[in-house]
Amino acid sequence: MRKISNNNILVLGGGGREHSICESLKKSKNVQNIYCAPGNAGIKKIAKIANINSYEFKHVLKFCKKNKINFVVPGSEDYLEKGISDFLKLEGIEVIGPSKYASLLETSKYFTKKLCDLSGIKTAKWIICDDAKNAKVILKTKKFPIVIKMDSLAAGKGVLVAKKLNDANKFLDNIINGKLGSRKSKIIIEECLYGEEGSFFFAVDGNDAKYLGSAKDYKRVGERNKGLNTGGMGCISPSPRENKKVVSSVLKEIVKPTLENMKKLGYSFTGFLYAGVMFTKKGIYLIEYNVRLGDPECQAVLARLKTNFLDICLAIKAGTLKKLKIEKSKNISVCVVLASKGYPEKYAKGIEIFGVNKLNNEGDVKIYHAGTKKNNLGKLLTNGGRVLNVVGKAKNIKKALDKTYDICRKIHWKGYFYRKDIGS
Ligand code: AMP
Ligand code: GLY
Repeated sequence: MRKISNNNILVLGGGGREHSICESLKKSKNVQNIYCAPGNAGIKKIAKIANINSYEFKHVLKFCKKNKINFVVPGSEDYLEKGISDFLKLEGIEVIGPSKYASLLETSKYFTKKLCDLSGIKTAKWIICDDAKNAKVILKTKKFPIVIKMDSLAAGKGVLVAKKLNDANKFLDNIINGKLGSRKSKIIIEECLYGEEGSFFFAVDGNDAKYLGSAKDYKRVGERNKGLNTGGMGCISPSPRENKKVVSSVLKEIVKPTLENMKKLGYSFTGFLYAGVMFTKKGIYLIEYNVRLGDPECQAVLARLKTNFLDICLAIKAGTLKKLKIEKSKNISVCVVLASKGYPEKYAKGIEIFGVNKLNNEGDVKIYHAGTKKNNLGKLLTNGGRVLNVVGKAKNIKKALDKTYDICRKIHWKGYFYRKDIGS
């Protein structure tokens, strides 16, 4: 692979995922400048903040041209759904992320279900309903528990595992009344599966997919997986279910047939792809795809990568992943999310955070900023629901957890909380 020693890179986003991406890129001597928009107080220490609205793609383009950006890394699916790859690539700026069409793997559950059927991929049995009203009629004839999903993105609130008809109707009424997602969204009703879940991450260059690592995500806000769904309260990497056979099955039975059919359909995929799977008694089932790195899974997965992240991005860009060996450390990594009281619902912002400044160099434990900002006096303040991520790694899970939670206990602000059962 031809190495460009003066890479200028723009990362889009302002969470812990983007902080860890910037940090991983910074490890390469072939990087000249890392820019990030909008960034956060932690990212500001290691990258230059691009003073642009990252959702105004014309501004992004102007910035890229002015600063000779070699490629852009969009963190979240929002950019991809809005077509950032298509827009910038047409202007000659490379993007490490799929086109709007290829992003359908995440942005339309209906599309992914159809693709699974076309490709012979194991997934829960499903039917499609025109809208939530139609789903209410169909559900009257169904047995519970059952799973109801909005076709389109709904900020992590579009899925209900319904124990009884009453719960299902409440969820669908919220859609009909405009309180949740889009009224027009198609609804998928699917069979309820049982088993442990795991996320498997891949770099994809249109032809080849290379395995980056896996994670077990802790999605619920409360300990013992109680309470509301969140973007993720923590994770461990690898998934406890990971072994060579499992990785090979996910690749051969799920990811490869997906990518082959995407190509046949004219939706060739490049970027990062992760499969959310369930280990059921009947085998490994695909639950969902995401077309970018997960947050906070990215932080834990990148912590174990030995291969330089820049080299992975360059290989995706050049279509040379086949030749790249991706190596991972044998360590286990843990990410714990420190959040604002009230998250994932209403929470206050602008509260002073204590303890972080003293903790910048803790060896195997890193602190990534998610929702933070600095005020005029240089004080670190909360600026979001998920505020900080503590990521630790060690030879075994117990040591990794001990190190990580030891640092978590040294950070505090009024009304903070974190799950104490990540990895247990
Ligand atoms: P998704 O957005 O499709 O990943 O769904 C969110 C969560 O809902 C998953 O992580 C699972 O915990 C749960 N879920 C989704 N589909 C099913 C299913 N068919 N059976 C059981 N649980 C499911
Ligand atoms: N942690 C789940 C996600 O990034 O979608």
